[in-house]
Parts: sequence; structure tokens; C-alpha cells
Amino acid sequence: MKTVFVILFFVLLANLMHAQITSLNGEWKVLIDPTGIGDWRQVWLEDKPQKKTDFFEYSFNGAPVLKVPGDFNSQRCELTYYEGTVWYKKQFKYSIRNGKRLFLHFGAVNYIAEVYLNGSKLGSHEGGFTPFQFEITGKVKEGANALIVKVNNTRHKDGLPGNGYDWLNYGGITRDVNMIEKPGTYIEDYSIQLKKGSVNTVAGRVQLNGTQPAQNIKIKIPELNLLYKTRTDEKGMATIEFSSAFTLWSPELPKLYKVVIESETDTVADRVGFRTIEAKGNKILLNGNQVFLKAVNIHEENPYKGARASSKEDAVLLLNAAKELGCNLVRLAHYPHNENMVKEAERMGLMVWSELPVYQHIEFADSSVNAKMERMLEEMVHRDKNRCGVVIWSLSNETYASTPNRYRALVELTQKCRVLDSTRLITHVTNTQRYENNTFDIWDTLYKCCDLIALNEYIGWYVPWQGKPAATKWNLVCTDKPVFISEFGGEALYGSHYGAADEAAFWTEAYQAKIYTAQIEMFNTVPNLCGVCPWLLFDYRSPGRMHPVYQKGYNRKGLLSDKGEKKKAWYLMHAYYRQKT
Ligand code: GCU
Repeated sequence: MKTVFVILFFVLLANLMHAQITSLNGEWKVLIDPTGIGDWRQVWLEDKPQKKTDFFEYSFNGAPVLKVPGDFNSQRCELTYYEGTVWYKKQFKYSIRNGKRLFLHFGAVNYIAEVYLNGSKLGSHEGGFTPFQFEITGKVKEGANALIVKVNNTRHKDGLPGNGYDWLNYGGITRDVNMIEKPGTYIEDYSIQLKKGSVNTVAGRVQLNGTQPAQNIKIKIPELNLLYKTRTDEKGMATIEFSSAFTLWSPELPKLYKVVIESETDTVADRVGFRTIEAKGNKILLNGNQVFLKAVNIHEENPYKGARASSKEDAVLLLNAAKELGCNLVRLAHYPHNENMVKEAERMGLMVWSELPVYQHIEFADSSVNAKMERMLEEMVHRDKNRCGVVIWSLSNETYASTPNRYRALVELTQKCRVLDSTRLITHVTNTQRYENNTFDIWDTLYKCCDLIALNEYIGWYVPWQGKPAATKWNLVCTDKPVFISEFGGEALYGSHYGAADEAAFWTEAYQAKIYTAQIEMFNTVPNLCGVCPWLLFDYRSPGRMHPVYQKGYNRKGLLSDKGEKKKAWYLMHAYYRQKT
């Protein structure tokens, strides 16, 4: 039985409520560098003419500005489809305070970031959807400081994702940038988890970092009048265990508690929920009760802006649309979304499916790719492991069974995920199934290491029906696991009612609705069906979708248009979820 608990890991920098935070969001000066010559010119040095005959063919003075957070593609028309380097600069002032430590935290930069402070390189990060930070204690100057970030969103064969993906490759400093000041010895990490099989006993550990590792620790949950005391050892670590009667988090009652962790020199706090999630036989149980996952796929894009979503307002907009459809889970495709999405989903009572961008074409035989997958997994779990709303880690989407080393790499990644977090469900999404004679043959042995079978199928759109949907047959490689239809649907241009309703090439709403009607009929044939997840909530930007009349650079599989207009299929899905218990 897979009983999954809440793990409450308080990651210092993922939990910024009690740190001294200085936001570096806002206008940053930029140099657009399509030839990549900025490295050769060493723009991070910001050389200035010394002699009358000196000149430098770059300068941030007089440079254009871009907003951070935000993708650069949607901010300047010459950057719409840009894939290359942009150099960002932010000037900031700082007053050094003795004994304080200072960190520079990036919510995410897509795809590679190289970070310089006052002309010296702090380091770099690869991966467009997970946070990273640098300690700049002793490197920051009193007064004015210059932060320069080289951002490059070029796709890479050995990247995550690789060269090909079906969304706009938004580049830039796409999430918040903060300076975080902490005491000399600070709370570096927390893990507080419900003991296995328990809904009232919490266990975990505390980790301090600094010159005073052995300190008294208090954990408080004021609403429960709970105060737990312990002491860290010479390595700054202490274990935690306490019990209480928690109101469990659920979509119907998304209960969150304020939890405060105090050391002698630092305090962190967060709002935390407690719940259990498990796959038991062919069912998904939330807090011990069977739950049907009424899901929808969401890309991290504000459809009205045609831009990366990053703000709390963006998150509320997208998640409200999911709630209106009748969802209790959102699949945040195909990469970890920003923290606002995850925190707002939890607050609104939406379970979250979080996914690594191990998408389709991946170089699994390249050891550097496997190292990247592991690091990105660590970053994803590290950031969100205390978010009770996250119930499923999805470690890949539609990778090809024929790719060398794919199976071994993904099984190993799954094992690593279980070590990092044995609490949540883990799966891989595939579309390797065979569909012949109106029969699905779900043969992929990758599912043997998963807690549920998640499959994408587009019968009725990419693949014609081979018989009556209600007569569909199924062969499952694992007959004792829940089955989740993680993608299905088809395209329609909102308002397109012209052309034959039975011909796909007119992108009519009627044709899309027909797909949904047939899919809903087929759902009744799926053994162990634990949930469904239409692709997707809103039409979204994808340059490969090139039909000049119907697509115009948009994937039109949304149940909603990019203006939020409900297509006929939306009403079918809404009715299905409303009647589904
Ligand atoms: C795939 C893939 C999606 C893609 C969708 C489509 O299943 O997972 O990222 O957008 O199909 O073709 O629209």
C-alpha cells in the first residue's frame, strides 16, 4: 500500500515570509546579443573609456529595458520568436550589516543563466523552470552594485526539454528575483512529515547553517496551541516528532495551518496543509477516500497577454478557469510552474500534478542529460515538497521507447524521486500504446515503476476511431494500477462553425465537440479509470501550429479560446465533471 504523507520541508529560500527580502523585480536594462559576441566583449566588465581614443561597442547606458519577471519574447516585437542571448543588468544599492548573510535568489530563468556581480561571475544555472540562488555575502559592495545576467534560451539537443516542443520557447528572467538577508546562522531547511500511515503524528528534521549549529528550536502551530521544542546537534540538525488532531486538506476543505519554526537566531513561517494521498490497488485515495481526478492541462501562459504567466494574478486567472470547469486537479504541463501557481492551487483546493520537462526527444544515452534530470528533479522536489496540493510527480512526457537508455534512465530517475520524496505518487506519461482493432494495448513496462498509468491518446483527432467508442477494449501491462487519461482532445477555432462538421480540416467547434462526446463514451470502457485530463484549458502559443486561418501560431486544443471564450466542448466537459462523483 502506498500511503503518502505530507512532507513539510521548509526550504529557507522557497519560504520567504520571514526573511529580509529585497525584490529586484522591475525594469532591467538589456543588450540583445543575437551573435553571442557579448562573451568576447566581456560585457559583464562594463569597460568604460579611459583615454580619449578608447571606445567600447556595448553599453548598458542608453540600453532598452525589459520587465522582470517576464519573458522577453512578448515584450519586444523583434524578440517574438527570438532564441539566443539577452544580457540583463540591474543596479542596486545595499548597506552591509555585520553578521548578516546575503543570497541572490532566482525563481527561474529560461534556459541558461550566467550571473555576474560587480564584474565577477557568481555561477550559472541550466533549466528554465526551477529556482536557484547564490550566496553573495562578502561579494556585495556597500552602496551601488551591478548585477548582470546572461540569459540564453537556445534549444539544445541535450537539454531538458530537447530540441522539439509544442509551446513557445519563452526566454528571459521569467520569475521573481530577490535578495534575501539572513542571520549568520540561519534555518537552511525543514522537513516535517506525517509519519507513515498516520494522519496525526508529524516527524521530520531541522537543518541550520552557520557558525552556531547547536541551537534550541521551537515549532509552533498557533491554531492548534502546539509548541514543540528540540535542539540541533553540532552539525545543525535535529529530528522532530509531535502529534495533533489536524483538519486534513482536501479540495472541498483546503485547510492550511500557519506553522512557525524558530531557532535562536532565525524564524521561518509558512502556511501548510496536511493530507494523505495513496494509490491503493486500482484506486486513488485522498485522506483514505477514493477520489476521481477531474483534471485539466494548463501551460504556464496568460492567454490574454500571450506571455509567460508568473504573477499571483496570472495564477488566479488560470486556476479560476479550472475551477469553473469543475476540476479538482490541474496538470501543470510540461515543466514545474511558478510558485504562485502551486500555492494558489493549494489555497483554492486544486490538487497539482507537477512535471519535469523530460519531453519527447531526450538524449537518455548522454550521461550529462541524466545528471541534469536528477538535478532538476531535486530542484522541483526541494521547492514544492511542502506543498500539500502537489500530489503527483510526473517525471516524463511522451518519451520514445526506442530511444537508447530511455527505460533504464527513467526507472533510475523514478527510484531517485522515491528517495527524495516517498510521500507522493510518481508516474511517467506515455503515448507508446498500440491502438488496433478498437483495442488499446498499454504495453509499456515503464509503468511497472509508476504508481499509476498515465497515457495520452488523441483518438478522434490524430487517430480516427476504429470502432464504437463504447466498444473499446483494453489490455493493461499492469492490471492492478489506476489508469489516468492524461491528455485527449482536438483542435477548434472558437466561432468556427463553417465547413462540414464531420471534416477535421475546418477546425470547427462541432468537430471538436464530437471528439469529446466520443471520448466521454469511451471513458466508461477504461479499466481502473481514476481520472481524465483534457488537453487543454486555453488555446496557447505554439509556433509550429502554422495554419494561417485556423491556428496562426496557436495550438487550438483549448476548451477555451485565447480570449477565454467557451467552445462547445467546454460545456460537454463541464457537464461530465458535474455528474462525476
Ligand atoms: C502531445 C503533447 C502536448 C502537445 C499535444 C498536441 O500529447 O504532450 O505537449 O501539445 O500532444 O499535439 O497538441
